Amino acid sequence: MEPNFVHSNLLKSTSQIKILLVESIHPVAKEQLEEAGFDVTLLSHSPSEEELLQIISQYQVLGIRSKTNLTNSFFQKSPHLLALGAFCIGTNQIDLEAANSKGIPAFNAPYSNTRSVAELVIAEIIALSRQLGDRNSGAHRGEWIKMAVGSREVRGKVLGIVGYGHIGSQLSVLAEALGLKVIFYDLVKKLPLGNAQATASLEELLALADFVSLHVPETPQTKEMIGAGELGKMKRGSYLINASRGTVVDIEALAGALKEQHLMGAAIDVFPEEPASNKEKFSSPLQNLSNVILTPHIGGSTEEAQYNIGVEVAQSLIQFIKNGSTTGAVNFPNVDLPIHRRCRRIINVHKNEPGVLGEINGIVSKEGANILGQFLATDANIGYLVTDLEKGEAERVAKEIALLKRSIHTRIVV
Ligand code: NAI
Repeated sequence: MEPNFVHSNLLKSTSQIKILLVESIHPVAKEQLEEAGFDVTLLSHSPSEEELLQIISQYQVLGIRSKTNLTNSFFQKSPHLLALGAFCIGTNQIDLEAANSKGIPAFNAPYSNTRSVAELVIAEIIALSRQLGDRNSGAHRGEWIKMAVGSREVRGKVLGIVGYGHIGSQLSVLAEALGLKVIFYDLVKKLPLGNAQATASLEELLALADFVSLHVPETPQTKEMIGAGELGKMKRGSYLINASRGTVVDIEALAGALKEQHLMGAAIDVFPEEPASNKEKFSSPLQNLSNVILTPHIGGSTEEAQYNIGVEVAQSLIQFIKNGSTTGAVNFPNVDLPIHRRCRRIINVHKNEPGVLGEINGIVSKEGANILGQFLATDANIGYLVTDLEKGEAERVAKEIALLKRSIHTRIVV
């Protein structure tokens, strides 16, 4: 019987692992993967599915950014892949369920641009307070509007952070260094950093804050969580900053609050509808309103963030290939494994059905192998089993495990 898939004849050395990186992933990723001993090819463009399918059989690992779509049909035709690197934040471009069913973990770098977003918001707090956007464009047009009215220092003002996660809490620390008082509201109980204080409700935060900055994810609960009612509850003369997701704010209601001068300004980086590329035109009801800073979703777009993404995903791939750890995989049971020494580590991905573990351990004992350590993590569809054996018999055992009907992938870490 043909095994479901015996991974690449149980690769024996790192140089046998070929990695394809597309879409001009930051060169640091190639450097780090090569340093780890892998053979890396870097393409600058985003290949179509057809092009990818023509070459992918030569590679064990694929690294993409946001423009390469990986569909169910791609995974059906590429079951040999060991892992995917999504060198970006989002993973919507990947059919994660299909990858999971083929035993292929996908690693991304969700927090590599946290600092970049927090820094942009700090810049915007000062820029709004000093009407920098309008003064700057006026001066470019030849206008000289020197005045202090409506321009304020940020020291001592209250910053209300909605969503105290990675970005919100980072912003909290930076803002306090500027002398802002920080309050925050989060669904989940969070440890306040520095002198920040949690509010009991969103309403309480809106009523107290001079600046409201949104840092929540896009969920059904956060859809238009800032609408006309919430804007009305904000202090007269306060400012709204949104660098989270465009759906979080009712943009028409915000335009209304700005026109009525209930709000003194806003800085918006994300929109309910955003152009798909730099070639498309952008339009928004917020255009041409005074003291409104509009940016094209650049909160996380910095060279440092791209570098960090390259390092983070490359390191996750190295950890997975060489050690079996799946920490940070978005579609896979997460296992953080100890370094394997003086043993051979067999990795097996199988369908999560009763009795599989018994079958596998039956093989181990039939072969007279000695288990030094075993780790199992499961999700609804698959089981991820790591078995450390005393050196010697691992190849035989792995080949037999790979032959089991419910095995999806089996390999020995190189
Ligand atoms: P995170 O997951 O670390 O933090 C989100 C926080 O929001 C969590 O503490 C969570 O408990 C809280 N939260 C969720 N639902 C809530 C609700 N209904 N009310 C109050 N709090 C709620 O996420 P992270 O990394 O801080 O990112 C925050 C947002 O920033 C996300 O929407 C992300 O997509 C966006 N983002 C935007 C970028 C840009 O370029 N503008 C770049 C990176 C992230």
